[in-house]
Amino acid sequence: MQTLIQPITTESLAQAKEIIESGGVVAIPTETVYGLGGNAFDDTAVKKIFEVKGRPNNNPLIAHVHKDYDLSNIIDYEPPYAKKLRAAFPCGPLTLVYPSTGKVSPLVSCGLNTLAVRVPSHEGAQAFLKTVGIPIVAPSANISRHVSPTSAAHVFDDFEGKIPLILDGGECQGGIESTVCDCTGEIPTILRSGLVTREMIEEVVGACEEYTPDLSKGEKVKSPGVLYKHYAPRCKTMLFSAKNVKNAISAYVAESLENKEVAVLCEEKWIKDFQKVGAKTLNLGKNQAEMATRLYKLLREAERICKLLIVVEPTEKDGIMKGVLNRLQKACTSEDVLGK
Ligand code: TXA
Ligand code: MG
Repeated sequence: MQTLIQPITTESLAQAKEIIESGGVVAIPTETVYGLGGNAFDDTAVKKIFEVKGRPNNNPLIAHVHKDYDLSNIIDYEPPYAKKLRAAFPCGPLTLVYPSTGKVSPLVSCGLNTLAVRVPSHEGAQAFLKTVGIPIVAPSANISRHVSPTSAAHVFDDFEGKIPLILDGGECQGGIESTVCDCTGEIPTILRSGLVTREMIEEVVGACEEYTPDLSKGEKVKSPGVLYKHYAPRCKTMLFSAKNVKNAISAYVAESLENKEVAVLCEEKWIKDFQKVGAKTLNLGKNQAEMATRLYKLLREAERICKLLIVVEPTEKDGIMKGVLNRLQKACTSEDVLGK
């Protein structure tokens, strides 16, 4: 199969619609990362998404809808706090999990009676969703566990010959995936941190929780995606806390002496220290938004330029850095399934 990369035009949107209507998948840009989209009502399309990604079949998908889509088709109940959240963030990097009407394919939520819904703000995504007129399930458009894609070229690298069409909407500005927030309980619970922070949610609705599964108790996990090694570059990684930057420098010196191809990913303030010892450096940036935007692009670059990547965690831990840090830790773990 030939994989076309097309700018978003009336013609390419018509082509995308045709593919979606015949049960195929199309890669689409969003403001966070690229998604691999298929018709949420079509079992064949949903199955194809899992197959082409190699995604574990217990990790549910997010339904993406146009900003004017009537949610009552797919969600059963919306608590008042979720209405407030939708009014505050009508579109953008926030995914809300609701009780499902069960109308989408049962494969979407992998047996859960809930459905995750997101209205992306990216103009190209909105144009695509308007053209197709139905909810589109779309996980990040990467081979399962690989680094998420923030450009059409990243998607092409993972899926060349496996999907027919990539709609090219430029580089994703957000850079990390949406915040996933469960809206089935008394108060909202963040299942995955992202660009809409806990503080932003609390400002709108008051109380909000953050979910961390207690794996030692064999608890049933609310959002199975949180369990997997994920976002990982195809090179070895070593992760250091910003408090241990000296150890990271020593590790670089020791590893590069062994003749390995080593590179370093760190925030801008450490770059000179690593360059002094001759390191190839990847500059994560100097502020929170920049670090989120660059993260995946640099992890993908790392796998091209080195066999071992030394990563220094950013110093700041609050706001969107929670999401950035969560992705870095999952990218750098040596465990396939966390907590085992
Ligand atoms: O920004 C994003 O969210 C991107 C773009 C393409 O929209 N999509 C994305 O999809 O990151 P994916 O499939 O890579 O991650 C979906 C996350 C997973 O952690 C999954 O477990 C969780 O959402 N999720 C989906 N449906 C759920 C549900 N019904 N209940 C709980 N968690 C759910
Ligand atoms: Mg993903």
